[in-house]
Amino acid sequence: MTQSHSQGAALVTGASAGIGAVYAERLAARGHDLVLVARDEARLQAAATDLSARYGVAVEVFRADLTDEADIERLEAKLADDPAIGLLVNNAGAALFGGFLDNQPAQIGKLIQLNVTAVARLAHAAAQAFTARGRGTVVNVSSVVGLVPEYGSAVYGATKAFVTYLTQALAHELAGKGVVFQAVLPGATRTEIWERSGRDPADLDPSRTMDADELVDAALAGLDKGELITIPSLPDAAEWDAYQAARAVLIPNLSKAHPAERYGVRKLVGA
Ligand SMILES: NC(=O)c1ccc[n+]([C@@H]2O[C@H](COP(=O)([O-])OP(=O)(O)OC[C@H]3O[C@@H](n4cnc5c(N)ncnc54)[C@H](OP(=O)(O)O)[C@@H]3O)[C@@H](O)[C@H]2O)c1
Repeated sequence: MTQSHSQGAALVTGASAGIGAVYAERLAARGHDLVLVARDEARLQAAATDLSARYGVAVEVFRADLTDEADIERLEAKLADDPAIGLLVNNAGAALFGGFLDNQPAQIGKLIQLNVTAVARLAHAAAQAFTARGRGTVVNVSSVVGLVPEYGSAVYGATKAFVTYLTQALAHELAGKGVVFQAVLPGATRTEIWERSGRDPADLDPSRTMDADELVDAALAGLDKGELITIPSLPDAAEWDAYQAARAVLIPNLSKAHPAERYGVRKLVGA
């Protein structure tokens, strides 16, 4: 699917570290004014000072905890009320490792608030504002983990499956309304997410781990090419297309009046 993305100020969540910090730098270099969102105001302030000095763009710091309802509402209002914002990078997220049985209920709830609820709420606010204007771009940072239940990160992977599905569904539902959608599916990337979720980054296999700057450069190249789904590591994009084609084969048969024959269920006519 070919899409074209528009300019405007970019609101980047999780801009204080890792992939989001690189997005902020690359988007400033492309001339976007910025709204930087995260909890660590001092880090955001330092990035704002640096980026506005280096690139001459206007940078606003917006401190928010995306697991906090009042902060989400303030951000929704910002997206609704600031017509300068034309690009949302829904990047903030966290991981949760360990087996499902060892995950704590509160951890599961918090992860879903951050990786699912906040992403959907901000995408919704942006989609409403952007469709009303007939232009705008929503980038959702997902993960390849959402494609691989076998990786053993049940809740994290499920949150990322949600992000990928949401992006595909919105691109389909809002096609023709001038809004560009992209889901970015990184593989393992060198950022703070590993330490933050209790993993030793020294355990990462360097041959399978990407630097965040290359990851974001590839993601932006994918956006420029009009990709709906960007998997920076995947050498052959035709493999993704084949995966989607296999899924499409199922669609006509997923909802029927009667169960498939293999279940041996027969409705008794006239009984
Ligand atoms: N690194 C990887 O291997 C990898 C792979 C696939 C996908 N991803 C995805 O990439 C995205 C960015 O991750 P990263 O690797 O760059 O992680 P990171 O280095 O840990 O950065 C996470 C960012 O999210 C912010 N954040 C965390 N909790 C927040 C909250 N409650 N409210 C607001 N902001 C919050 C953090 O800022 P504060 O702490 O200042 O709030 C930080 O800016 C995530 O969605 C992640 O799932 C990462």
